[in-house]
Amino acid sequence: MCSLASFSAIQEATHGALFSSNSKSLSSSSMMSSQAHFTTRMHLFPRKRAGVSVSASVEIDSGNSMPVSGLVFQPFEEVKNEAFVAPVAPQLSIARQRFADECESAINEQINVEYNNSYVYHAMFAYFDRDNIALKGLAKFFKDSSEEERTHAEMLMEYQNMRGGRVKLHSIMNPPSEFDNAEKGDALYAMELALSLEKLTNEKLLSLHNVADRCNDPQLADFIESKFLNEQVEAIKKIADYVSQLRRLGKGHGVWHFDQSLLQEAAV
Ligand SMILES: [Fe+2]
Ligand SMILES: [Fe+2]
Repeated sequence: MCSLASFSAIQEATHGALFSSNSKSLSSSSMMSSQAHFTTRMHLFPRKRAGVSVSASVEIDSGNSMPVSGLVFQPFEEVKNEAFVAPVAPQLSIARQRFADECESAINEQINVEYNNSYVYHAMFAYFDRDNIALKGLAKFFKDSSEEERTHAEMLMEYQNMRGGRVKLHSIMNPPSEFDNAEKGDALYAMELALSLEKLTNEKLLSLHNVADRCNDPQLADFIESKFLNEQVEAIKKIADYVSQLRRLGKGHGVWHFDQSLLQEAAV
């Protein structure tokens, strides 16, 4: 897209070409400066070459003539190209530009991953919030995590719409409703499951980034890098810390203290 500054430059160049002046001191713009001391009359004769015009020559009253170098961008010629035409069919995006089908479907897959995570974390919240479990810190942690994953899905939906893709929601599996484990206990078992999910999500995000690279879509790659990858690695570290702490504690009294520390962390 041509910026306002570029249009101004084009106008200046175009008007400058038709402009006759008796002044001895023309402006110091780059194209004009070399002819400034000839000063009398200039004619530019654009020759079209592959969408741009080449400024050809300057006619000077003094009898001298000198070539004008540089290319003049002609936006009104270039926008006639089919690639710049806004579609009129109501089902087609008007904004879509250089957005590959492969990127569109990879984003829809990532939306599905985020929703799956959200669903699993919501099931964990429901489990730890039970009256016979009552680990309120873990319940809150998984509730917040569930909301965060849904937010990730929504960020991807908004991005999909921004690029002119279409959001297609896929099915999500029903998660387990029981998280107790005879060997590990429920807190460690759930936290290890969360760690596995976050690592899997990181793999999926890296795959999405690879698709963006393969399709030569730096804008999508930047979106994934700036909004997702860093946060994902931080989430993995945080949950890995929790797993290590829970492994030290066993299944009993220590888990209650761990749960309290989660509540205190959330309150900060
Ligand atoms: Fe996520
Ligand atoms: Fe996450």
